[in-house]
Amino acid sequence: MTTFLYKRNLGKRKGYIDGVFGSGRVMEWIRILMNNNFRVIKKTIKENCNDEGNVLDIGCGTGYFSRLFNNANYVGIDNSDKYIKFANTKYGGKFFVMDANKMDFKKENFDVVLMISFLHHLSDRELKGIFNDVKRVLKKNGKLIIIDPVPVNEQSNFIRRFIFSHDRGCCGRSKEQISRLLENYFKIEKYEVRNSLSCTLQLFICGI
Ligand SMILES: C[S@@+](CC[C@H](N)C(=O)[O-])C[C@H]1O[C@@H](n2cnc3c(N)ncnc32)[C@H](O)[C@@H]1O
Repeated sequence: MTTFLYKRNLGKRKGYIDGVFGSGRVMEWIRILMNNNFRVIKKTIKENCNDEGNVLDIGCGTGYFSRLFNNANYVGIDNSDKYIKFANTKYGGKFFVMDANKMDFKKENFDVVLMISFLHHLSDRELKGIFNDVKRVLKKNGKLIIIDPVPVNEQSNFIRRFIFSHDRGCCGRSKEQISRLLENYFKIEKYEVRNSLSCTLQLFICGI
């Protein structure tokens, strides 16, 4: 239903939106403006993740959240070479073009894996493969931290519903839908819903 709403609302405007967001610089500025400098997401990450150990940010985009990790060994991956080029220029060379479906990291390597505004870009089939691989690369006491918008119909007001209905992601999911996908691989330790300026977000903290 959500996917249907998304497709119906976006229609022919998708090409235009893809064009605008294709540039790393434009993508980062629009997201900073729409998210009030990412105040809510930054606070949520800081509250739930220490700046230490090995951190993997999957679907890191322009690398904005790497600024929260000055002590940790942070690595960001994204399948957009434009965003990774921008991230490496702006935030230093810790970003790699890599498809999350084909990750190339050794077993039990990371203390934290982040997925910020990433899940709704992937199909259920892709996510199952990615969760399986995340479980492989996480240390036994590691954490998977997911921050993703709730589906359009659960966004907390008309403006947030309007904004998320124009998102490029295919697959906004409810708590239940994400939980069903996660529970074959992880234990969900914490769930919260928070409002940022433009979006109602859900947070999952998962252990193995
Ligand atoms: C909404 S952006 C979020 C970027 C960043 N996490 C942030 O919050 O600023 C989603 C990102 O996922 C990336 N992405 C989508 N599918 C991917 C895949 N299969 N492998 C790696 N990255 C992917 C996109 O290129 C995009 O940069």
